[in-house]
Amino acid sequence: LPILLLNGPNLNMLGVRQPQVYGSATLDDVVELVRTTAGEFGYPVEALQTNHEGEMLDALAAARGGISGIVINPAAWTHTSVALIDALVLPEVPIVEVHISNVHARESFRHHSYVSPLAAGVIAGFGIRGYEFAVRHLVTLVS
Ligand code: DQA
Repeated sequence: LPILLLNGPNLNMLGVRQPQVYGSATLDDVVELVRTTAGEFGYPVEALQTNHEGEMLDALAAARGGISGIVINPAAWTHTSVALIDALVLPEVPIVEVHISNVHARESFRHHSYVSPLAAGVIAGFGIRGYEFAVRHLVTLVS
């Protein structure tokens, strides 16, 4: 079953948005990196980026029974969304949380994550390589 790659709000602007914080790679680069890494282990990838929280909730409900694991960068919803964590448990699969920047070195409102208690692991501050590490760990949990 595929790995579900979820990217939250404003990550469509990767590469353009605050490159001093998030780097110059684009969302397409992220998706390609995840597909390549997952492909090494024989996993296809379903990728969704959305700026609309309800769309992500609907995707998680629809994913029940159809995915092997989740790699998610919840972006700003990390710090705000109870609805997201309620939906993240619906597929009942391992979750790895990724942040491109080191959120702990930034504003205090970025230090708390609603998602981390649900995650098998959390990666922050490794740039987009964090997504690769996330996939490499996730496959050890699902295979
Ligand atoms: C982020 C960190 C969040 O605090 C921020 O709201 C983002 C991106 C990261 O990848 O570093 O949008 O999740």
